[in-house]
Amino acid sequence: MIVVETIDKIREAVKGLQSEGKKVAFVPTMGALHNGHLSLFRLAKKHADEVVVSIYVNPEQFGPNEDFGNYPRNLERDLTFCKEEGISVVFTPSDEIMYGKGKKFLSIEIEELNDYLDGGSRPGYFQGIALVVNKLFNIVGPDVAVFGQKDYQQFQIIHQMVKEFNHDLELVMAPIERAEDGLALSSRNAYLSKEERELAPLMYNTMKKVVQEIQNGLLEPDSLLDKEQQQLETKGFKNDYLSVFSMNRMTPVSQLKKGETYLLAGAVYLGKTRLIDNIIFEC
Ligand code: PAJ
Repeated sequence: MIVVETIDKIREAVKGLQSEGKKVAFVPTMGALHNGHLSLFRLAKKHADEVVVSIYVNPEQFGPNEDFGNYPRNLERDLTFCKEEGISVVFTPSDEIMYGKGKKFLSIEIEELNDYLDGGSRPGYFQGIALVVNKLFNIVGPDVAVFGQKDYQQFQIIHQMVKEFNHDLELVMAPIERAEDGLALSSRNAYLSKEERELAPLMYNTMKKVVQEIQNGLLEPDSLLDKEQQQLETKGFKNDYLSVFSMNRMTPVSQLKKGETYLLAGAVYLGKTRLIDNIIFEC
């Protein structure tokens, strides 16, 4: 495994592999790796000969009051995981390498797909992600890129970006990796106190219950969703959103149709920790 920090070196490494006829898969991450990330590496390996990982905490996708400064960073541990997983190249750029020093003249705007879910709650979040992923795709030049369903809206926006900006790569979505008690794995779970960690799986359990009710015939789930959110509040969660969304447009849907596929997605705070989760289900 090689670890490179510069754009020239990562390009040289990836082009070198591709010139040997190898298919290269790319998994962008912000580090603090957990089994969710590792499941992406393993899926990437199934779609390609070699896997390239980036570890970069992208300042552009954090709001002024968010946790950029505190975001967990542990490069040495991350590199050990990468090595154990058989990763070929790890790209660990600095802010200066990613963004340079001078004034920026361009940005990426996102219409509609960004109005709800985390796009609605975190202004600038997906613009920052689209920017960094666009740059990473141009820098790395992979044949395949793997992202997790955990961040379904991120996947959808990147999917649209690949289409509209003509990135020459195949996108793959990996399922959500969970702890035994159902909590979706996340680097931010490290912030949870013992009590919060014990409470956290209630979010997914609530979501599973809602999906069950819908699949039993409840086609207008809004009042159930309100009730369940109130329940979560009484248990100590602070709700951001919990709704059913259309799979492609990322807009809320109140009247469901039998046979259609939807996304139930939620975001809550436990103390200061923001948790997101989702379930894709057929009605
Ligand atoms: P990060 O939060 O580190 O996540 C990197 C990738 O791992 C994302 O595609 C995410 O969806 C996936 N992932 C996280 N938790 C997962 C889980 N429990 N199961 C399956 N996959 C999971 O997402 C980002 O970083 C950044 O926005 C990035 C794309 C790197 C751009 O900065």
